[in-house]
Amino acid sequence: MGFLEQVSAALGTCIDVHESSIQANWKLVIENSLEGYHVPFVHRTSLAKSSEIQFSQDEKDSQDFMPETGHSAVHNHANEKWLQRWSRYQKDIGQWPFMFEHYVHQLVFPNLTVTSFLGYSFHVQHFRPLAHDLTSVHSSIYSTRFDGQSARGKVLMQSIQTENIGFTHQVFDEDKTACERTQRGSAQASRPSIPGEIIEQRVSDFRKTYHRLQKLK
Ligand SMILES: [Fe+2]
Repeated sequence: MGFLEQVSAALGTCIDVHESSIQANWKLVIENSLEGYHVPFVHRTSLAKSSEIQFSQDEKDSQDFMPETGHSAVHNHANEKWLQRWSRYQKDIGQWPFMFEHYVHQLVFPNLTVTSFLGYSFHVQHFRPLAHDLTSVHSSIYSTRFDGQSARGKVLMQSIQTENIGFTHQVFDEDKTACERTQRGSAQASRPSIPGEIIEQRVSDFRKTYHRLQKLK
């Protein structure tokens, strides 16, 4: 079963909907989500901190790219020690349909992303161009369905999800500021930007697919 089919089968209640706009070109906003090297700078007090604790520093991230469609994904393995601590709560939290041990960021080319850590919730973002320098973002967070969850596990998961919503909004605001600054900077650029090797592989793949499809028009 494909990733999106598994996500669809696992989706539970929508626990947050957030509509916003970013004063930047839609491709710039997408590209920002496709590379991770901005995290230590842009998300110093949010995502960078949690990534350090939750993601493996030993195992290499894995990337998938489908050249025919432009879809791409990155997987960051969860930290073993963190998973061991998490497993202590597993009995109370219960089981859910699509369980995995990594963070995934999936681009459904060209303008939809699905992200999740372990599969207990899913963050879906839809980016729509409103003008050459304005993008609307529709963001939803879905919980999943749990089996065998105790009353204690329910309270625990509610607290995790509430924290997750606040965290997601903070990360969004940080990305919005970064994208708007980059847009203003790009207006002064005299040459097109060149994606970095390896660290911007997904950006490069995104641009290649976009330009290939533009030529077919
Ligand atoms: Fe970001």
